[in-house]
Amino acid sequence: MTIAKSTRAIHGRKDKLYRGANFPIYASTTFGVEKSDDYDRYIAGDDDEFYLYTRYSNPTIRNVEEKLAALENAEDALLFSSGMAAITTTILAFMQEGDIIVAQRQLYGMAYRFLRDFVPRLGMETQFVDEDELYQLHKKFPRVKAVYFETPINPTTDCVSIEKVVKSASKAGALTIVDNTFASPINQNPLTLGVDVVVHSATKYIGGHSDIMAGAAISSKKNIKQIREAMKAFGGCINPIDAHLLDRSLKTLQVRVERQNQTAQRLAEFFLRQRKVTRVFYPGIPSSRNYRIAKKQMTGFGGMICIEMKDLKSAKELCDNLKVALNATSLGGVETLVSIPVLTSHIKMSEDELKSANVTGGMVRISVGLEDPDDLITDFRDALEGI
Ligand SMILES: Cc1ncc(COP(=O)(O)O)c(C=O)c1O
Repeated sequence: MTIAKSTRAIHGRKDKLYRGANFPIYASTTFGVEKSDDYDRYIAGDDDEFYLYTRYSNPTIRNVEEKLAALENAEDALLFSSGMAAITTTILAFMQEGDIIVAQRQLYGMAYRFLRDFVPRLGMETQFVDEDELYQLHKKFPRVKAVYFETPINPTTDCVSIEKVVKSASKAGALTIVDNTFASPINQNPLTLGVDVVVHSATKYIGGHSDIMAGAAISSKKNIKQIREAMKAFGGCINPIDAHLLDRSLKTLQVRVERQNQTAQRLAEFFLRQRKVTRVFYPGIPSSRNYRIAKKQMTGFGGMICIEMKDLKSAKELCDNLKVALNATSLGGVETLVSIPVLTSHIKMSEDELKSANVTGGMVRISVGLEDPDDLITDFRDALEGI
């Protein structure tokens, strides 16, 4: 029997003791052994099912990791305290001094800055490339260790062909890591398309209520074992209470994301008709270059839209005029958020870097929430009229 995503997201481990509808929160940092000899099992490597210390593993956390693995059609998953903990720990788990990582130039600002500022300090090399070079990376970088990219990209929602990156990376023998945050596991499953590791900021769609910081890495059992060893040392584990909140959130992930997809499509079409909006970026717009790629690899176009106003001043005015949408960074929650990338996700980047990342001062990124779609359209219409 094949089990649908929405069912997998609801039914995880059972509460065998009391048959509770929810799996219990094991709010323990440490777990006793019955006999000291039991430690031999842990030392022999049986560590994800051996509950010893919560930084290593915990039953409440494992329940959510198993659900996330099921949602991404993977063997295993690992939760972290934030998306950045998931990204940095995953990259460092596979890289050594002298290794090269190829990364797309168009990335979430902090992931870009980690690769630009920190990776070289550790004796490794980051090579930033544009989309075309990403599809041909085996020619220029035959010795590359890992490839890191995002699709849809923050903030432009531009899409990268996962199939083409995987093809080139496999010729170079490189590990592929993709940030699937913007799509969520409902709209896109990169592992099915041959990617090695998926990372998420679970703070966004997976958490879905703007109240949990969390991250995830999802992959084969072997890769997750390697990432878990790095996490044990770097210490970016999630806590069981946040893991429980994520479990609660996962149960509604599919209905939330489907509704956000629908409202975003309506809003994108509304923006296309607005004179004061110079450009609209949304993978669900059939005339966009992203549509063809998105149609091939996504089952929904997502809840993220990027619009461009004539300049930063009009972008600020638009954000300040909104009454329903909140002018705040982050994304994926039940409330609609707007943010100006050059003031939030993409600060501390030079003019040239912003240009290469296709980010302009007039851009406003919109994370579509679960409010009534008509209320959102009215809110944006009034805000645009007020400029
Ligand atoms: C695409 C993307 N990846 C990763 C992150 C980092 O996630 P976190 O804030 O949970 O560390 C963000 C944060 O905005 C993001 O937008």
